[in-house]
Amino acid sequence: MEIFSSLPDPLIKNDFQTVYSPSDDTYLFIDFFKQNVNYNYFDGIEISKIKKILDMGTGTGIIAIFLQKISDLIPHFNPEIYASDILEDAIECAKINEKLNNIKNRIHFIKSDLFSSFPYELKNSFDIILFNPPYLPSLEYKESKRALLNKDITWNGGYKGFEIFLKFIKNFKNYINLNPPSCVYYTSSSYTDLVELNNKLKEQSLSSKVIAKKHIFFEDIFLNRLQLI
Ligand SMILES: C[S@@+](CC[C@H](N)C(=O)[O-])C[C@H]1O[C@@H](n2cnc3c(N)ncnc32)[C@H](O)[C@@H]1O
Repeated sequence: MEIFSSLPDPLIKNDFQTVYSPSDDTYLFIDFFKQNVNYNYFDGIEISKIKKILDMGTGTGIIAIFLQKISDLIPHFNPEIYASDILEDAIECAKINEKLNNIKNRIHFIKSDLFSSFPYELKNSFDIILFNPPYLPSLEYKESKRALLNKDITWNGGYKGFEIFLKFIKNFKNYINLNPPSCVYYTSSSYTDLVELNNKLKEQSLSSKVIAKKHIFFEDIFLNRLQLI
């Protein structure tokens, strides 16, 4: 049953040149959760079992704020929500948006390059991790307008587009709750070499499934769910 399909998106203000404004990839997450979260289940996971959620690379904070708003509507869904980003501006922007949406200092913010500055007590604690990573290959986008705006870090996933995500993959097992049914949601693009990316995931004993997709101009963007095999 879709309960949250008409829930309004969070209000978002972004006065920072460096911070990624919500885009089609962001709404892949939001729209998926609108359709697949209800009073009992979060995409099939019993909702009362979810104790901690991490929004990695939070940008304006929109995904973390959206999940906090959903949790406020479900009495037995009380996860601690964490939002992290490598950019100080993003953390500042996300805090502004938290206030704008009347959420009073409940989201935990961490400025960190992936997990490098996460405290020890968060080890193996997250039931759900969301990551809309920079996923475009630097090769093809070098001369693009977006690059000229110096927003590289928000979309540049490295030479092949998945280097930052692979770095994430090498580390997330230290922070995810190792007891099922924890999982990771992430985005990828048809501009990335998806066959090579999937092979790399298999090498790490990970299985990934496309759960939503959007076509924009010449590109397909995918929302994926990753689970430990
Ligand atoms: C495509 S944007 C997504 C922003 C936001 N989650 C959204 O969906 O609108 C990628 C985000 O990852 C952040 N990022 C890039 N490299 C990172 C790293 N090494 N560690 C943490 N965050 C990073 C960027 O600053 C940016 O906010």
